[in-house]
Amino acid sequence: MTVRKNVLVVGASRGLGLALAEEYCGRGWHVIATSRGKSAGLASLLERYPESLELETVDIVDLASVRTLRTRLEGRKLNTLFVNAGIAKANELTSVEVDEKDFFDMMLTNTLSPMRVIEVFRDIVAENGVMAAMSSEIASITNSIGFWELYSSSKAALNMLMKAFSTRHPDDSRALLLVAPGWVRTEMGGPEATFEISESIPLVVDVVERNAGVSGLRYTDRFGEILPW
Ligand SMILES: NC(=O)c1ccc[n+]([C@@H]2O[C@H](COP(=O)([O-])OP(=O)(O)OC[C@H]3O[C@@H](n4cnc5c(N)ncnc54)[C@H](OP(=O)(O)O)[C@@H]3O)[C@@H](O)[C@H]2O)c1
Repeated sequence: MTVRKNVLVVGASRGLGLALAEEYCGRGWHVIATSRGKSAGLASLLERYPESLELETVDIVDLASVRTLRTRLEGRKLNTLFVNAGIAKANELTSVEVDEKDFFDMMLTNTLSPMRVIEVFRDIVAENGVMAAMSSEIASITNSIGFWELYSSSKAALNMLMKAFSTRHPDDSRALLLVAPGWVRTEMGGPEATFEISESIPLVVDVVERNAGVSGLRYTDRFGEILPW
């Protein structure tokens, strides 16, 4: 009997997260997909994959909610943990123009909270598993052209926290990935974005699968090319 691999996709109500859940279902994985509230996309995915998809709820900015989900999943082993949830606000604004609350919201949602999810779920990820967080090409300080500067700084800070995490766990056998999916047409990416979801997410899942069992931290694009910090 073959044991199905499983993945926890955090932030799967729509956009790239929903597409990740769909892609893993299509590949025969058992998928635990989370949303904050009702998701029409996940409801219809469940109709297509009733045997593969399991729906959960979590709001990643609420640490108690993250811990409660972890408790509900006690006894499970995850092959992949993928923290996808994120927000973008005040995209065109600078540090003197932004409403501070918008900046704090991004730092909480995009930086602190994904890292907390990884910290809280770390012990149920398989030894040869993958812990991935959705980063961005524009999180690269080296390559930055100043696009969406406040949002990109929240993702650069996420990269830094993952780096710090990896240095605290030098002997961890799991792959730790910061994945840049490309600029994709979603609610966040907007209609001007370069790629369709279908041009990004299958490649993202390929990269994650290829990294299973390869320990260490990598900041990678959807092709598996390593990006400069
Ligand atoms: N689209 C792009 O071009 C692009 C490029 C690089 C990186 N990314 C990153 O890719 C990820 C997905 O982006 P997207 O384009 O699919 O954006 P999106 O369409 O706006 O979807 C964002 C997802 O994150 C969830 N989320 C937001 N805050 C959350 C919270 N506190 N707790 C749990 N879930 C939360 C949303 O859930 P709700 O439905 O409940 O709001 C939704 O499922 C984000 O991390 C984003 O920064 C996107």
